[in-house]
Amino acid sequence: MSLERRPGIGQEGQFPERVPYAGNIRALRDIHVSDKGVLVRVDLDFKDGEEKTSRRFFAVKPTVKELEKHDVKRITILAHNGDYKSLRYLIKPLAELLQEDVAFTLDNSTKSAEGRRVVLFENTRLCPEKREENNDPDFAAYMVEMGDTYVGNAFATSHRAHASIVGIPALLKSKAVGLQVEEEVNRIDEALYRPKEGFIVVIGGAKIETKLPVIKYMANIAETVLVGGILPSEIEKEKIILPDNVVVAQLDKSLENKDITLDSAEKFAKILSKAKTIVWNGAMGVFEEHETAQGTLIVVRAMVDAKSNNNAYLLAGGGETEAFLKENNLEQPFNHISTGGGAMLEYVSGNKMPGLEVLRK
Ligand code: 3PG
Repeated sequence: MSLERRPGIGQEGQFPERVPYAGNIRALRDIHVSDKGVLVRVDLDFKDGEEKTSRRFFAVKPTVKELEKHDVKRITILAHNGDYKSLRYLIKPLAELLQEDVAFTLDNSTKSAEGRRVVLFENTRLCPEKREENNDPDFAAYMVEMGDTYVGNAFATSHRAHASIVGIPALLKSKAVGLQVEEEVNRIDEALYRPKEGFIVVIGGAKIETKLPVIKYMANIAETVLVGGILPSEIEKEKIILPDNVVVAQLDKSLENKDITLDSAEKFAKILSKAKTIVWNGAMGVFEEHETAQGTLIVVRAMVDAKSNNNAYLLAGGGETEAFLKENNLEQPFNHISTGGGAMLEYVSGNKMPGLEVLRK
């Protein structure tokens, strides 16, 4: 992702004005769905076996059940797998999740439904010539043949201007976000629009080119931004100058830079002890190994303490962040754990989300 495409980043007062999505996008309750053929775009992009634990997978059910309550004629589930794998393997898990038969289709005919109300369409990214990724209008028109109403429930893909994310809803009048997206938007905006005082952001993991816009944008709206993971060495290597309220951790050389130092972890914990709002993405170190999990543990425990002591609002997101919380049984204190990785970062960078823009009121 090129930084040049982000006007104003890093220059105080020149960030694009952020119009909240919360309250400004069409919700399911704003549209009539009874007797409609509904195309529901969901997130089914996860590794094999993760359907048993993935929030993305479980997020399909409430929206499908809500639609069924309103007697829709047919629900066609659209989704991608980023490894270009067929979605056929999800027929049975989806049937178990929804407690009803699920049909599968490779084309846009309704033949394969054979009386079943829910149909799973093949991985949209398997369409030749990258027609999904290129938002090919013919591919969008092809998919629209399967329904007359669109429900966008794929928050983790809402930063992509793809055919099933923006192409289809652009062709339909009847459209809304699903329950998962509504919840994500409400919860994330709830954090972002809280006062600057006591607003602490923690960014870890790797890939400074993806994280830098978030760090700079958040430095503008938060009191302090704490940076760990492998980012400190990338910042040093690339001689990146950051705003004064960004605190970059020291990495522990004795651990081959695989974790932040104990001093840095304690410094972060002290700053977090006064937090009233915390937004967190990315681990402080390689938490999969016990020895280098300490930085992340200390920092996350400080977040949990801020929740108990100051009733701090805790928002987290991203694959490894979610995995860490699950592994350490620390999910419960968080007000929201986003299903979005890249999407959450784009969102908290103040960028427009194509998949949400197309569903604005
Ligand atoms: C994700 O995993 O963040 C979403 O499924 C989007 O995937 P992508 O980065 O391959 O577009």
